[in-house]
Amino acid sequence: MSTIEEQYADGLYSEDADLIRTKKGIAAKGMPDISIADGYGRLLTMLVSLRGAREVLEIGALGGYSGICLARGLASGGRLTSLELKEEYAETAKAHMEEAGLGDAVEYRIGDARASLEQLKEEGRKFDFFFIDADKEGYPVYLDYAIELGNPGAVIIGDNVLLRGRTTNPDKAGPSVLAVRSFNERIASDERLMSTVLPGYDGLAIAILKGN
Ligand SMILES: C[S@@+](CC[C@H](N)C(=O)[O-])C[C@H]1O[C@@H](n2cnc3c(N)ncnc32)[C@H](O)[C@@H]1O
Repeated sequence: MSTIEEQYADGLYSEDADLIRTKKGIAAKGMPDISIADGYGRLLTMLVSLRGAREVLEIGALGGYSGICLARGLASGGRLTSLELKEEYAETAKAHMEEAGLGDAVEYRIGDARASLEQLKEEGRKFDFFFIDADKEGYPVYLDYAIELGNPGAVIIGDNVLLRGRTTNPDKAGPSVLAVRSFNERIASDERLMSTVLPGYDGLAIAILKGN
């Protein structure tokens, strides 16, 4: 449920045919309506572009909405590597990326992101940009990998860091809540990072890996 201010800001933009088609495709397949908020999707494109990123890693593809936003910002010849637990979701995401003319820019790796990240590490892969948006219990581990696999100056983003109010609710202490609180605290305090946490929509953490 977005606020009046978020609705106002989203209403300033004309309809985006690729993203509308993708959202309809996700709904038609009965997949959950948990793609990134429209305003943060635009921010992803801007930040990938500002960073001049050539190697982008997404953790959690769903139906390709954020994948389209990320790939749109890629530098020429850049590529998006996207990790997704469910094969059918990755196939849907790939179809939507292809329909948006971005199919050549993406490679999907299926399975638990922890295993895919370990494989990427063994392959010696490095990235300029990370978008963390999979299971919330994994956020602290995904942050560790992002710091390890990030080039100097890499951007690290985490979505849904407010967990629809659960992060700030003292009565909530489930594993996802504890993991996201720990992730947010590390985003704010890890000396290797420069960061901010945006409280709009469902919360977005943005960090830059220092060293550049
Ligand atoms: C919030 S959705 C991603 C939304 C997508 N980033 C977007 O904005 O369009 C989370 C996705 O993470 C996937 N996922 C959940 N646990 C995972 C895991 N352990 N490894 C990889 N992907 C996982 C889910 O299947 C789901 O597609």
